[in-house]
Amino acid sequence: MSEPKALIRPDRGQDAIAIHLVNKDGFEAFAKGLTAGQRASLAAQKFDGSGYQYAIIPDGDTWFVVSGVANPESLSSWCLAKLAEELPEGSYRVANAEPGPAMFGWITGQYRFTRYKSEDKSQGPRILLTAQVGQIDAVTAEAEAECLVRDLVNAPPEDMGPAALEAECERLAKAHKGDLTVVRGDALEQGYPMVHAVGRAAARHHAPRLMHLTWGDPAHPVLAVVGKGVCFDSGGLNIKPGAGMRLMKKDMGGAGHALALAGLIMAARLKVRLHLLIPAVENAISGGAFRPGDVLKSRKGLTVEIDNTDAEGRLILGDALTRASEENPDLIVDFATLTGAARVALGPDLPALMARKDETADAFLAAGKANDDAAWRLPLHEAYREYLSSDVADMANSASNPFAGASVAGLFLDRFVGEGIDWVHFDTFAWSPAPKPGRSRGGRGLGLRASWHAIRARYA
Ligand code: BES
Ligand code: ZN
Ligand code: ZN
Repeated sequence: MSEPKALIRPDRGQDAIAIHLVNKDGFEAFAKGLTAGQRASLAAQKFDGSGYQYAIIPDGDTWFVVSGVANPESLSSWCLAKLAEELPEGSYRVANAEPGPAMFGWITGQYRFTRYKSEDKSQGPRILLTAQVGQIDAVTAEAEAECLVRDLVNAPPEDMGPAALEAECERLAKAHKGDLTVVRGDALEQGYPMVHAVGRAAARHHAPRLMHLTWGDPAHPVLAVVGKGVCFDSGGLNIKPGAGMRLMKKDMGGAGHALALAGLIMAARLKVRLHLLIPAVENAISGGAFRPGDVLKSRKGLTVEIDNTDAEGRLILGDALTRASEENPDLIVDFATLTGAARVALGPDLPALMARKDETADAFLAAGKANDDAAWRLPLHEAYREYLSSDVADMANSASNPFAGASVAGLFLDRFVGEGIDWVHFDTFAWSPAPKPGRSRGGRGLGLRASWHAIRARYA
């Protein structure tokens, strides 16, 4: 994509095409101020002021844009995104409003994943000018974080294996002077046995690993961010059918969210001691793969009977959450493409949020709503814990019934989060199955902005 940094620029009165925002009510008054020819042009383009509609209107030697929005007084993140995608290369300014949150969609609307196209057919940049100069850096950082999630998720699994996720952690550590420790391959058997078990069947160049990045003043409250990095989920010996496997390159989407969030936190120099933990594996199949019926001894000491090798994300997260809990954190936030059940319950737009404390859940939900990144809470219902009982071990990794799959996965994770620790879990889809303005088909952040704004407010 074009360098996002340059897509929003300070308005110093330079030449730019005007964008007039109207809604259905304000449209008539606006049209009254136009020439008969311009009104005819609007009519010819069937413009009536509905959201995401726009028309190009000639004006002497130049032209301007009229675009429909729900409410010109209060813009959403997406209301300029279609313009950013479709207008010709050039500079634009909103004539009758401040773009505010719409700057985010202006940037993400221009996201294209072209790395594997022989020819880059994407158009040159559309620049948006704004008088809100003080907001440019913050909104650009957020949009860059979103584009990072998309790039990581969209990359093919051969090129986005555990080693590539490690390289991303290293890049982040370097950029912000954090400290990165990585435990790889058979060395995981000691401290991260469940990460090892899930990842051990993969080819050598996709060997499993656990990345642990620390940053910030140790005197500040500890914030742990954890992300599921299953770089490809074949299901393991409980192999997925073809259709279910097709998109499983995105099963490292949780890691993508965690990396992007960590980048925002460090760039803003929040007053936290950050621990980023990324368990990275490929859930592959070979003679050495872990099996249904195996019993794993976790980092925590709890034994886990494998009921289904496709419920692998909770295993690698279990060890990572145990490690996070050892730091006595003020808060743990994890992201994972954990269950198909979350998608069945909420669809692809709403990530499921689970949390121990109501106040924390409410803060994250409110931040999501306020930033066009809504999430929906699902319960950690105590009575469902027994679904994970095992005849031979302390617990099983999946239930033998089909009920409340997202909550049951959350309850599995809960066993590995230290007692009393404030914890938020996002079961995110990390994918946009159909394009919408500002959100092309493919990788997508879901829960990223909700978390970022909630965390920024908490540690302001
Ligand atoms: N990565 C999948 C979950 C998933 C599937 C996310 C489809 C988004 C779309 C996960 O590892 C998995 O396979 N979960 C199983 C759990 C089951 C075996 C208890 C599932 O959801 O079917
Ligand atoms: Zn799986
Ligand atoms: Zn998975």
